[in-house]
Parts: sequence; structure tokens; C-alpha cells
Amino acid sequence: MVEIKIELTQNRKEKPTDESKLGFGRCFTDHMFIMDYTVGQGWHDARVVPYGPISLDPSCSVFHYGQEVFEGMKAYKVANGDIQLFRPEENFKRLNVSNERLCIPQIDVDMCIEALRTLVKVDQDWIPTSEGTSLYIRPFIIGCEPVLGVHPANNYKFIIILSPVGSYYAGGLAPVKIFVESSYVRAVRGGIGSAKTGGNYAASLKAQQDAKGYSQVLWLDGIERKYIEEVGAMNVFFVIGDEIITPALQGSILPGITRKSCIEILKSWGYNVSERKISIDEVEEAAKNGTLKEMFGTGTAAVISPVGELKYKDETITIGHNKIGEITQKLYDTLTGIQLSKNEDKFGWIVKI
Ligand code: PLP
Ligand code: COI
Repeated sequence: MVEIKIELTQNRKEKPTDESKLGFGRCFTDHMFIMDYTVGQGWHDARVVPYGPISLDPSCSVFHYGQEVFEGMKAYKVANGDIQLFRPEENFKRLNVSNERLCIPQIDVDMCIEALRTLVKVDQDWIPTSEGTSLYIRPFIIGCEPVLGVHPANNYKFIIILSPVGSYYAGGLAPVKIFVESSYVRAVRGGIGSAKTGGNYAASLKAQQDAKGYSQVLWLDGIERKYIEEVGAMNVFFVIGDEIITPALQGSILPGITRKSCIEILKSWGYNVSERKISIDEVEEAAKNGTLKEMFGTGTAAVISPVGELKYKDETITIGHNKIGEITQKLYDTLTGIQLSKNEDKFGWIVKI
């Protein structure tokens, strides 16, 4: 295992006192993890240092051609004081899939988990404990070679920052309104849609900005503009009749770890879960004939988020009388129950720090 140097800050920051006002990703802990990559040397100089600005050459590739990848995960402090992570190896495996697509060198998953353990231990006092809060973890890699030619960089930085967070949506666990986007598209198969990379989020900003009054945008496929893909920061599920449907992973949507976990939980309860194509017309039709019972989004930041309304062109589709559905609530309780060790970890998903 690589040696991780630790330099503790001399200027500890004030921690947020009111956990109900944390919001999402606005304040950061006292330290961060950094490691460099140099061609010929590989990943080196693993260190925990005080959180703060980093110095980068203005010609670095990340600034010009967006060569970067990131992850999103959470640490929880549970009732008995233990600190734990949820399926961290899945995030770092996905980081490597994104790395592969963005021509960024692979990074050792066990090393990433060790780096994260070390950093979270140093800043463990920052983990909030009120209901619905956690320590959000943002690992990312940026291309740092100072050259303007369009090619994969020779140097990179792998950084992990930590942020105590509350709910991703201002309303907490309450049905959200989503705008179905029919003009802009997020990704096409063969593009970078299934990688967790900044460009996908840059591409989504305009649609999100235009969809005023809606929590997020629901993307349709980039070719026929009719099959449902995912929401800005969540995968989506529909309960139609006795089938639970989520769009199949076909290369343009992010393979969510919460999505995968929900499929496993739902199947273990005996539900009929399909990963298949689902069109917006099918959803509209199901809403009209009364078989559309629930819709929810899944994501690390958003956890399980009920969707109460979809706006598609001139139509407003109300789902489940704009209330939290039974399956959505059960899934939220079960998933958060596992993450906080209130429920048994039957699937072996928890990693203690
Ligand atoms: N889809 C997008 C575009 C996302 O940004 C996220 C969040 O990470 C998700 C889906 C959900 O993925 P996960 O459950 O791994 O957090
Ligand atoms: C996450 O859920 O971790 C995400 O990365 C979503 C985000 C873009 C805030």
C-alpha cells in the first residue's frame, strides 16, 4: 500500500452549527487528499493536506478540453458512532470506467479506498448526524499537462474533497416536479453520456436554466427524442401496473450505483423489475389509463426522490396524486436504513472506516 503523508491544518475552520441549513455542497472540511500522476512514474505523492486553492498552469488540459472525471459518494456516522461508506469500491470501479473513456490513466481501487479512509478519519468531526445529513465525498481527476495540443495529458491530479450535506433538493423527501426536455439532448450512444465527466453536466446547464420552476430536467434519447434516459443527477424508475421499469443501460446514461442497489433490493422483495426501453408516450398513456402508480429518481446526492409531476410539451402528468408512493417510501426507508445501519446489511454493502 502507498504511504499517505498527512499535513494537518493550523487553521481549523468553524463547523456549521445548524445542520438543518447545510444544503448541498456549499461548505468543505479542513482537509483534502491529493495525488499526482506523471507519465513514466505513475501515481505518486499521496497526501492529505489542508483544504484550499491549488495552483495550476492556465494551459492545463482540464481548462481547455475538459479532460476530467469525478465521483460522488457519502460517509455516514451511525448511532453507535461508527463511520461507514456505502459500496465505495463500486464508485472507484466506475471512476476507472470513466477514466478509460476520457483517456485518463487507471487508478488502483484499493488505494482510492485507503486514501478515502485516511481523509475521512482526519475530518471525521465534520460528519453531520441529523436525519437526512451525511458527508458528501467528491473524488475527481483532472488533466494537468500545460500544453494546448488536443491529446491526453501527461500529468494528472487525483483529489478528494469532503462536504457535510443535507438534502439535495430544498424540499427534502418530497415529490419533485420534473421538466421533460424535448429540444436539447444530453448524450448519444457512443458519446460520453455513461462516463461521469464534467462535460455531461456542462451540456445540461442550459436546459436546466430554461426549465424554470422545475427541480430537474428529464432527458430523452438523442436520436428519436422519445425514449427516457435519466434526470440531471438521478436515474429514474416507473411503477406501471405490476412492473417496475428503469431505462436499460445502453451507453448514454450513467450506470448509477443507487440504481443498481435499488434493482437488487426490489428483486429481493419479489418485484418484477425490467431494465428496458420506455418511451415518454408509454408513460403518458399509463398516466391516462391509471396504471402509472409511482415514479422516483435514484442517486447518491438525491437518495430516493419521489417525482410528483412531469411537464412534457403542453401536458402536465401528475403522478400518484403528487404524494410519495408506497414502493418509493419503502425503498427510501430500506436504503437509508442499510446506509445508517438501522437495517441489517444483507447484501454486504457497508464498509466501515
Ligand atoms: N445520473 C446522473 C447524471 C448522475 O449525476 C447521478 C449521480 O451520481 C446518477 C445518475 C446517480 O448515480 P449514483 O446512484 O451512482 O449516485
Ligand atoms: C451524485 O449523486 O453524487 C452526483 O454526482 C450528482 C451531482 C452531479 C450533484
